[in-house]
Amino acid sequence: MSWSKQKINLKSADQVDKMQASAEVLASVFLSIRDLVVPGATTAAIDEVVESKIREAGCIPSFKGYHGFPGSACISVNEEVVHGIPGSRELVEGDIVGIDIGVIKDGWHADSAETMPVGELGDTASQLLQTTMECLEKGIAAIAVGKRISVIGMAIEQHARANGYSVVESLVGHGIGRELHEDPQVPNYRCFTMPDPVMEEGLVIAIEPMINCGTKRVVTARDEWTIVTADKELSAHFEHTVAVTADGPKILTRRGSGIAAF
Ligand code: CO
Repeated sequence: MSWSKQKINLKSADQVDKMQASAEVLASVFLSIRDLVVPGATTAAIDEVVESKIREAGCIPSFKGYHGFPGSACISVNEEVVHGIPGSRELVEGDIVGIDIGVIKDGWHADSAETMPVGELGDTASQLLQTTMECLEKGIAAIAVGKRISVIGMAIEQHARANGYSVVESLVGHGIGRELHEDPQVPNYRCFTMPDPVMEEGLVIAIEPMINCGTKRVVTARDEWTIVTADKELSAHFEHTVAVTADGPKILTRRGSGIAAF
């Protein structure tokens, strides 16, 4: 993609408010499924609840049917990075489960992901979740009007590396609005090949670091959807939809006051 072909749809304050409304539905869906992520639960059962909660709120799941994706949530367990298809897999104590959901309300998308623990985690998994949340927090904190998009990825990569992790490069964050994926691309690492626009008020982006314990390399599974770490080591993923305002970043999909607003 050339620089000139980039088309960034800046949002008015009014439009950001509409995205906030969509994001609030999404945040409430996440809060309502946390208790369902337990040993013995299937990923399909979680997906069913996600879809019904979204529809009960009068909204549409962004992912259902997107390029043919069969679920309302992408559910990715352990070495699965993103885009896992919900199914009959039963969760086991100590698993980590990345759940990625999009919601459309009144034509506006919100997109967020959270990697949840199943019961008690071992140290490796629990430290990975902690650091990945911190990576998202640091990426968001780097946002300011007048800075370039690349400051986000640099902050994320620096924190991941300092903790001994790698950053997935083949999938990146994105602009969001009336479309689920809009310009610009938002890499989670220091990237020299993508356009690097200056952030302006009204830019709304989904920031979504995917952080691995081992190699940054990923492969696509036989189902042609699920992205898996090449070495089968653990991976975690957290994502927020964030608006750039004159006062700094505003996390639209915030759920609480914890690390990175989780
Ligand atoms: Co996204």
